[in-house]
Amino acid sequence: MKINGKAYRTIWTASGGAAAEIIDQVRLPFEVDIVTLDTLEKAAIAIESMQVRGAPCIGATAAYGMFLGLKEDASDAGLARASERLGRTRPTAVNLHWAIDEMSHAVANAQPVERVALALKRAEEICDEDVEISKGIGASGLKLIEEIAAKKKGPVNILTHCNAGWLATVDWGTATAPIYMAHDKGINVHVWVDETRPRNQGASLTAFELGAHGVPHTVIVDNVGGHLMQKGMVDVCITGTDRTARSGDVANKIGTYLKALAAHDNNIPFYVALPSTTIDWNILDGVSDIPIEERGDEEVRMMTGRLPDGGIATVDIIAKGSPAANYAFDVTPARLVTGLITERGVCAASEEGLSSLFPERA
Ligand code: MRU
Repeated sequence: MKINGKAYRTIWTASGGAAAEIIDQVRLPFEVDIVTLDTLEKAAIAIESMQVRGAPCIGATAAYGMFLGLKEDASDAGLARASERLGRTRPTAVNLHWAIDEMSHAVANAQPVERVALALKRAEEICDEDVEISKGIGASGLKLIEEIAAKKKGPVNILTHCNAGWLATVDWGTATAPIYMAHDKGINVHVWVDETRPRNQGASLTAFELGAHGVPHTVIVDNVGGHLMQKGMVDVCITGTDRTARSGDVANKIGTYLKALAAHDNNIPFYVALPSTTIDWNILDGVSDIPIEERGDEEVRMMTGRLPDGGIATVDIIAKGSPAANYAFDVTPARLVTGLITERGVCAASEEGLSSLFPERA
């Protein structure tokens, strides 16, 4: 998608082919900084520090991280070291492990001397595949938005949480792909953007990218969604997910569960958009078995913003001495999810639903 008229992906091969480049998402929306990842450690830190974030983008960065690790040491020991380092960067998004496995399989039977070129090729393919998957999600979800638009006057009001936009993927996004496609088709859409404390991915990233594409949107604080739903101001909720159990339970950014409860109480459809790389076929009970990341308390204790003089500052917002807890994700049980929007179509949030679309994995 475009920033200031220039098309970007979130990650790409640097010219010369020896490194990856990313948009530093920690600097958004204030600055568009391009950062080079030329070592395994830099790729791992980019994931940990959220310079890149969002399940598919984490997977794509891990793929490049494996390439960079093999550049440093293409032996079996080097492969194991890269897998181990990247595998412990973030616990919830399953795309991370999916990408590490894909990269390991791509090079496992090759001689060390061939591995680096093979790894770069597979990392680039993973990125291209992710873009096609996001487009497929967009086409599947577009039909749902069209159906709602056909039944009402005025804009289709869509509520989303966190950033499941193109910045969370390689391009297009998951939850936002249908929104961009609907907007581009001339459908009147308006997005309620949850700010998504503590990291504010909604306010900093979703609002930024929707604005850059010209999609009408309004940022709301996290507690507003229930009120809007009661007042008939939300037609549909669409969020992303970082890991989907095969039962259809979905882990997503903290606060998603509360939006799903409010949607259920108000009879508003609650859809979750996901690439198949986010499905963890090994887990049935998402609430018990999906690992939930707990991050440092400084993300709750502090906020970052722009000062009147244009500088960027991080300030305390909590009294010294008050403990803070930072659970990064929650799990929304399948019973609260109206449907899963995938690259192969929309299905029920259930084992049967997912198996009907992905019979080869069932
Ligand atoms: O902690 P983050 O910013 O990596 O969390 C991202 C989310 O929760 C997204 O909504 C999720 O990855 C959906 S996938 C596009």
